[in-house]
Amino acid sequence: MTQSGNLAGAALLAAVAATPAGAATLTTASFGVTADGKPVTLTTMTSGHGVTVKFMSYGGIITEIITPDRQGRPTNIVLGFPSLRDYETKSAEGGLYFGALIGRYANRIAKGHFSLDGQDYSLDINNTPNALHGGLKGFDKQIWDVKPGATSGRSVSAMLHLTSPDGDQGFPGTLNVDVSYTLSDDNAFSIQYRATTDKDTVLNLTNHAYFNLAGAGSPNGVFQQLLTVNADQYTPTDKTSIPLGHNVPVAGTPFDFRKPTAIGLHLRSDDEQLIWAQGYDHNWVLNKRGDLAAPQFAVRAHDPASGRTLECLTTEPGVQIYTANFLKGIYAGNGGVYRQTDAFTLETQHFPDSPNQPSFPTTELKPGQTFNSTTIFRFGVQK
Ligand code: GLA
Repeated sequence: MTQSGNLAGAALLAAVAATPAGAATLTTASFGVTADGKPVTLTTMTSGHGVTVKFMSYGGIITEIITPDRQGRPTNIVLGFPSLRDYETKSAEGGLYFGALIGRYANRIAKGHFSLDGQDYSLDINNTPNALHGGLKGFDKQIWDVKPGATSGRSVSAMLHLTSPDGDQGFPGTLNVDVSYTLSDDNAFSIQYRATTDKDTVLNLTNHAYFNLAGAGSPNGVFQQLLTVNADQYTPTDKTSIPLGHNVPVAGTPFDFRKPTAIGLHLRSDDEQLIWAQGYDHNWVLNKRGDLAAPQFAVRAHDPASGRTLECLTTEPGVQIYTANFLKGIYAGNGGVYRQTDAFTLETQHFPDSPNQPSFPTTELKPGQTFNSTTIFRFGVQK
């Protein structure tokens, strides 16, 4: 290294070391009004250790997650749009679900039909021929009631509440949903979901953040980013992304991410599953042991170029990993025009189409029961 390089490096380190590790903070401001005149807020949470998370009351949408790279340089690592109107138009038209809370049923229900207690229910067919992500006006397009939650010097949290009336988007039962977003000083962002119902119903909740650890809109997409997925099996699907009903070992397939593997390594494989889905858009069956009520390791992502890492832990049995296959290069967002393979999602979930698949873990919720689910995204760097 040259003398000036050394000095620059030393100055940078000094600057990083001198940054006071402050207390976590939470502030809320207006983010405009919806097209039909409803006010929307933007909440900003900071960890005091370099991570910032911003989210809207509209859809609980995470608009930005800013994390430092190995040199301490901050960048936003989730795909998003600059304005509320962009979310109401581009994200809705494109079926993008950027950063949103998804309900009542994350992922697909075959042909928009299921039966429960002998009664048939019909849902919107918004992803022909299936129902996707809770319908035409799912939780991603509702305005959540946002309040500051418990705050200590070590973490800040916000509580999001939504009451979904009986029959909302075709689903039975009045559902009361509480989600907490917590950012702690070890740079972990936790999402905790709780829900109760007054009639038997089905439920599958997730968050649909699109991650690119090199920064949203970075020129090389996520091909070189490494994933480790704690799953020996996945659920193959038909051409319309409905699971066939049995789990298949990942060994010897492009779905084997048991060791750190570049997302792009097998993306051009002629495996029919990848061709049908135009990339990865599949549910991995997470390996579990011990206490199922505790979040367990699901996925680790690592961008060797920036050094950024992301660890995902969850209580959910599955994770949908999606390589942004439906981004067609037609919507400009924060960081430029987004294209296929510009990001990956880690949609922790129960398996797609569970209400029609008796062999899958149940998604039924009954009066008197409380739905509980936790997913943690922990941000870091690998030197
Ligand atoms: C999930 C689905 C995809 C797609 C995206 C949103 O990942 O599995 O098929 O609908 O959400 O565009």
